[in-house]
Amino acid sequence: MKHSLAYAQEQDAQDELGSYRKKFHIPKQENGALHTYLCGNSLGLQPKITKEYVQQELDDWANYGVEGHLNAKNPWLPYHEFLTEKMARIVGAKPIEVVVMNTLSVNLHLLMATFYRPTKERYKILIESDAFPSDRYAVESQLKFHGYPDGLLELKPRNGETLLRPEDIERKIETEGNEIALILIGCPNYYTGQVFNIKRIAELGHNKGCMVGIDLAHGAGNLKLELHDSNIDFAAWCTYKYLNSGPGSVGGCFIHERHARSFDLPRFAGWWGHDKATRFGMRDEFSPIAGAEGWQLSNPPILSLAAIKASLDIFDEVGMEKLHKKSIQLTGYLEYLLNYFLENEVEIITPKNPEERGCQLSLQLIRKEGKKVFEAITKRGVIADWREPNVIRIAPAPLYNSYQDVYHFVMILKEELDTNQ
Ligand SMILES: Cc1ncc(COP(=O)(O)O)c(C=O)c1O
Repeated sequence: MKHSLAYAQEQDAQDELGSYRKKFHIPKQENGALHTYLCGNSLGLQPKITKEYVQQELDDWANYGVEGHLNAKNPWLPYHEFLTEKMARIVGAKPIEVVVMNTLSVNLHLLMATFYRPTKERYKILIESDAFPSDRYAVESQLKFHGYPDGLLELKPRNGETLLRPEDIERKIETEGNEIALILIGCPNYYTGQVFNIKRIAELGHNKGCMVGIDLAHGAGNLKLELHDSNIDFAAWCTYKYLNSGPGSVGGCFIHERHARSFDLPRFAGWWGHDKATRFGMRDEFSPIAGAEGWQLSNPPILSLAAIKASLDIFDEVGMEKLHKKSIQLTGYLEYLLNYFLENEVEIITPKNPEERGCQLSLQLIRKEGKKVFEAITKRGVIADWREPNVIRIAPAPLYNSYQDVYHFVMILKEELDTNQ
């Protein structure tokens, strides 16, 4: 029976990625039992090898000092390059299109400095009405910075609905595209978990002359992405969620190959984006590296890159194909259990179609107060997250979550909902 513990145990025993769970530190409760950790959408767990990777750089720093830039086992000067190909495979991009640098909100600003070029006729930026606050702040501040404070255009779900309908997105671009300078969409949306057809949005946006950028905070390491083929202009993401690289770790950027040698594109510059052959010539004239690397500013924090390298090595070993396959099954299983046991108590606002979602399901409680129930399940060892005004986000990460994690979560939620009827 699919709703029994035995089924979950069977699935775990047959799971070809099941052994990866042991490669992560799973946080423990005070009583020593493992937490049911379903919060990879917020902060991914620490791979056990991360310590070794970071320790290597600490040792090389201790042993070589500044000479570690050239002499460390993984020399620091080109360190970010060690991440490029693996990161490119994760997001379906060419290496020239990807760089690991800065953090997400910073990168959104840098990319907008290049790709948001408003004119009097075309100055609007289109975002989701429930875009992540940092994206909204970044966009509003860019609009004000350029002198177009009324340029924010929002994609709103229809009255009484929580998801955006693809046809409404298309109509908005079709009817208002001539005034839109930039479309910036989160994929999946952080609140609802809805995934958008970014290839189609890019096509429609480009037909209207708009630039198209995607915030992949919740997409990188979660969705099966084909960024190059999707033809979007740029994307940015963090690595501390599904990519398990540690709190506040350095982010990733994608800039489509067609912009790789557009050296006349306006950009904010720093020495790390300068031609490597002459970087240390300390010349006065900035000459950007071709591709995404040319948008770098500073020499990067190696300790953070080491943690990213540890994680990417695991991702590369598994591959997004297998990970995504398990993700569909595991999230489908979560959906099945919620519907089986709690159909009248829990509404899943995330789309039902696996192609329109990643591993996260966003839950709203039908009869009980969501925040209270969230606090109750937290006390019982479930780590998930609550997003105002009324969503519990649950994200089984296929790399380390098990079918039993999902089963235990649903049982705990059910027990909490059954008490105090
Ligand atoms: C969708 C989205 N955008 C932007 C951010 C901000 O990221 P950062 O603090 O790394 O700039 C987050 C963080 O969770 C996010 O989820």
